[in-house]
Amino acid sequence: MNFFNFYQNRINKKLFNILNNLPFQNSILIKSMKYGTLMGGKRLRPCLIYVIGEMFKVNIITLDAISIAVELIHAYSLIHDDLPCIDDDSLRRGKLACHIKYGENFALLAGDALQSLAFNILSTHIMPGVSHKSRLKIISELSNSIGCAGMCIGQTLDLQKDTKELDITELEKINLYKTAFLIRSSVRLSYLSANFCSKKILLLLDRFSISIGLAFQIQDDIFDYENDFKKIKNYKSDNICKTYPYLIGIKQSKNKIKILHEEALSILAFLKKNFFITNKLELLTDFIIQRLQ
Ligand code: IPE
Ligand code: IPE
Ligand code: MG
Ligand code: MG
Repeated sequence: MNFFNFYQNRINKKLFNILNNLPFQNSILIKSMKYGTLMGGKRLRPCLIYVIGEMFKVNIITLDAISIAVELIHAYSLIHDDLPCIDDDSLRRGKLACHIKYGENFALLAGDALQSLAFNILSTHIMPGVSHKSRLKIISELSNSIGCAGMCIGQTLDLQKDTKELDITELEKINLYKTAFLIRSSVRLSYLSANFCSKKILLLLDRFSISIGLAFQIQDDIFDYENDFKKIKNYKSDNICKTYPYLIGIKQSKNKIKILHEEALSILAFLKKNFFITNKLELLTDFIIQRLQ
């Protein structure tokens, strides 16, 4: 997938430049922000933003701003997710987690500063073709999807899940809020930057992004489950208990992914019939769902 590498390189360069132009370069804050953002990462959300934006013929400079903001939010969410008070993970992307490398206090602050940087970019970066009104809608959408009605409530429910009986419906709710909403938001932001107004298309895009978002989290849990199981058979109960593989087994989890994958592809087939060019999105969908770790 040449286009995937192209967009990965593009967002990596943009993130590098943004972070290298911040003040206090020698501070531990900036060092930990760079570590949590630049050391690895598949850049799936930015690629989704670029590909959807391309489908709507959005200016790439506009898509840069949106991709940077979403990836900064994602980086912040992972730094905080690994903290001892959340998942207590010492490794991220095969390296030391940010708080192990720089300390809990600075990892916490790095996450905070990445979040505010994301909104600073969205409110100040040039976005050719985007009106002030659309820019406000973009900011409002992203802030909604990651806060108390989005990612943060998802993380809260995730933290509380071990204290009660959990069924698959509740687990799906957690995955929806903690993971799928940022993916849905990535797609929505691209759509909002296009000044293309169709409730019907937006609804389809929402269904598409929720399907890939849920499938993505189940696949993530399968990787965690298999890795932990391989290692010691002594998996950390808090992190992988009450995930899809734990609740319904690997086979059923893979089946659920297959159903979600087909749903996503059927929406793309419908868009294709309506004259959207969906080839790249189809390839990216396959990759996101079957992804490498
Ligand atoms: C991992 O996301 C965390 C989840 C939301 C499941 P990614 O797999 O996209 O993380 P990186 O950025 O590629 O490491
Ligand atoms: C991460 O979910 C979700 C967010 C950071 C919002 P997980 O905790 O399941 O992901 P990993 O396994 O740590 O990447
Ligand atoms: Mg977590
Ligand atoms: Mg985690």
